[in-house]
Amino acid sequence: MNKLPPPVIDIRKLCKSYGSHTVLDGFNLTLYEGENLVVMGKSGSGKSVMIKCIVGLEDYDAGTITVMGKEVSKLEHDALDALRTDIGFLFQGSALYDSMSVRENLEFPLRRHREKFRDAKDTTPLVMEALENVGLPDVIDLMPEELSGGMKRRVALARTLILQPKIILYDEPTTGLDPITAKEIIGLIESVQEKYRTSSIIITHDVDCARVIADRMILLIDGVNYAEGTFTELSASEDPKIQAFFK
Ligand SMILES: Nc1ncnc2c1ncn2[C@@H]1O[C@H](COP(=O)(O)OP(=O)(O)O)[C@@H](O)[C@H]1O
Ligand SMILES: [Mg+2]
Repeated sequence: MNKLPPPVIDIRKLCKSYGSHTVLDGFNLTLYEGENLVVMGKSGSGKSVMIKCIVGLEDYDAGTITVMGKEVSKLEHDALDALRTDIGFLFQGSALYDSMSVRENLEFPLRRHREKFRDAKDTTPLVMEALENVGLPDVIDLMPEELSGGMKRRVALARTLILQPKIILYDEPTTGLDPITAKEIIGLIESVQEKYRTSSIIITHDVDCARVIADRMILLIDGVNYAEGTFTELSASEDPKIQAFFK
């Protein structure tokens, strides 16, 4: 058997409830370096909550989340902030700041994370590189209202990429886009992964997206990692709960 690359995120027995409502009930996930891991689950199954726990935006009740060797719940403010420069996240419907130009939107995270970019006096090359990576070198001086929905999503991706994250968490990156634009976004996610060797978790219920992008998949059902495998393995399953995702 081939040796597995090292894990960059390891989630063990994660539990999270809101009042009497149990969302995650012993969820496990390992993300290996360089892979695209797709997480699928019904709406309301806890996918976004899980992502927020990884970046420390939500506390969890039990279990452990280890990111690049560090346990998230034990990190102090500064260490958590440093961790967040290494993890890029593209939230569901990730919005740009409407009152800022594309350039200002992209410079914003650079200013917040000055430590990592203190040598960059002129940020224009970083902004340009990020825009080129999403195929939009010409929009730097436009305002968000001048962009189409698909272009906004690309600029949001560029804003995530500009921090040169080692890990990227995508929460429903193609939801709300027409099929052609969705395909373009999937293509970008793939090319980013190839170019920078990032490790990514992609949350989606878009089967076409999963088919193209998943090195491996986890199905989140009833608060646990109900099934894991490649797209081919899971889509051939005879378990009705698993089949339901591939119809
Ligand atoms: N801040 C919160 N307070 C109470 N309930 C929440 C909160 N955030 C999420 N939930 C509940 O947790 C469940 C999982 O939500 P979420 O992770 O957003 O689902 P999804 O899998 O669609 O991303 C939902 O039932 C949601 O209502
Ligand atoms: Mg969600």
